[in-house]
Amino acid sequence: MKRLLFVLVAIALSVPASRADEIAKHHMIAAANPYAAQAGLEMLRKGGSAVDAAIAAQMVLTLVEPESSGIGGGAFMMVYDPKTKKVTSFDGRETAPASASPTMFLDANGQPRGHGDAIPGGLSVGVPGLIAMLEMAHKKYGTLPWATLFEPAIKLSENGVPMTKKLANLLKAYPQVATMPDIKRTFTKPDGTMLKAGDTLKNPELAATFRLIAKGGAKAFYTGPIAQAIVDKVQHAPIQQGGMTLKDLAAYRAVERKPVCGTYRVYKICSMAPPSSGGITVLQILAMLERYKPQDLKPNTLQEIHLFAQASKLAYADRNFYLGDPSFVRVPEKGLLDRTYLTTRGRLIDPDRDMGQAQPGTPPMLRAEFAPAKQEEIAGTSHMSMVDDKGRVVSMTTTVESILGSQMMAKGFILNNQLTDFAFLPEWNGKKVANAPAPGKRPMSSMSPSIVFDKNGKFLMAIGSPGGPAIIPYVATTLVAMLDGGLDPKAAVALPHFVETGGPIMLEKDTPLGALAPQLSAMGYEVRAASSETSGLHIVERVKDGYIGAADPRREGVAIGD
Ligand code: DON
Repeated sequence: MKRLLFVLVAIALSVPASRADEIAKHHMIAAANPYAAQAGLEMLRKGGSAVDAAIAAQMVLTLVEPESSGIGGGAFMMVYDPKTKKVTSFDGRETAPASASPTMFLDANGQPRGHGDAIPGGLSVGVPGLIAMLEMAHKKYGTLPWATLFEPAIKLSENGVPMTKKLANLLKAYPQVATMPDIKRTFTKPDGTMLKAGDTLKNPELAATFRLIAKGGAKAFYTGPIAQAIVDKVQHAPIQQGGMTLKDLAAYRAVERKPVCGTYRVYKICSMAPPSSGGITVLQILAMLERYKPQDLKPNTLQEIHLFAQASKLAYADRNFYLGDPSFVRVPEKGLLDRTYLTTRGRLIDPDRDMGQAQPGTPPMLRAEFAPAKQEEIAGTSHMSMVDDKGRVVSMTTTVESILGSQMMAKGFILNNQLTDFAFLPEWNGKKVANAPAPGKRPMSSMSPSIVFDKNGKFLMAIGSPGGPAIIPYVATTLVAMLDGGLDPKAAVALPHFVETGGPIMLEKDTPLGALAPQLSAMGYEVRAASSETSGLHIVERVKDGYIGAADPRREGVAIGD
């Protein structure tokens, strides 16, 4: 059969809200870079599973989008298998090494250090979880041999790929990152100048690392020369040495977790459970908004922005109070998703005014004695969605945390700075913060890889985004725009963003949202303009005759299929 390959490239913000006419009949992948998406597609064409495609795409992202994700980082992967009708999730979140302590991000006076100051160097590096998680998912859902999944990335690392505009621009915009020794060495040409967009980026050291992992599996990453190189780099970091040991690496375990699932109108939405706050917070926001009619939630109207902002504030107050690694803190997951509780919470929304600072609620079943966390996060994450010939689905958000993680590399890959996702202040008014650092603990995340099912329980869409704490509003608003508003993925990912997580409301710069600023100010909001580049929504949606997809126009990705 003649196969139709189509590419839905980055699109302008003014896309009309019509259904896309290009439909993939067999399989599809949406990811943040065309080379990565192509590697995934190659696996799908070989008859590989969605998990196989995700692994191949992720290896290529390690090379082409190192600022966002890679094998020195962590991820959460949702998987749906139509044969068993089961949704499961894999947790490859980084863990704090045994040397971590609750006070590790405090200064000499016991005050939380600046978030940006704590990022570069060895202290912020968590034990990477990605490879262990991918191996676990592959054992369960892979169909192609593990080594095959590394082939495209090995070839590209050796032959080279064009340096992306995004990475070249980031290196220009953050000179302090670009001058860190590993970054400078990797992204500098022999003439001493930085690689520009379009220059060839090769990484033979990474190719050699891929070969070791392709042959030896996760064991080759967590023990032996790769593990030794990670430990050496962390312990002898150019700044802020950390205490990670070979024992920390050998002890890392990925976890298969039950996802959090809930309903929004007729739809079922499954997303990531703690240690991510993503699933619970997205579902809380949607549950509080369900009592409004779809026309009250029309994208980018003053009313929608206000209702979303208020629901977000309430959900974030709970998130910052109750959520952390479930192996360390008792997260009242059931209570936080209790419908009666959320109806009561939703009634705190005044239709005409901003409520000011939202307080955490008292969910039924448990009131843990925590203090609210105060934390900041910045860019460096990627999301991919894919579906294979058998209808198996993957939605995976993957991260090195900040731009180029800890700004250090080992064996050709970036080491994450995920430990700065912990709350820096471990106690507040004598009470413990749920997301305080501790040895072996996973920092709380906002990543919200999600899979949506229609009223008949059939797969409808896979969705997720980078964006730090803004991930949750990006995913929630896009879901409502598609489920209530009927927007297709292209139109939905192009919608201008507003984000309210408890501080000022952020309106995406240079979009029509700016015109609503005076009205929002009059309602009591503190309004700020936000730069837009951190969302990266990559969606695959099932339609009547197959699949359509979209890549966020703010990034460089594609949605491709046959
Ligand atoms: O796990 C988290 O929530 C963060 N480390 C994600 C950071 C992020 O999305 C940065 N985005 N561009």
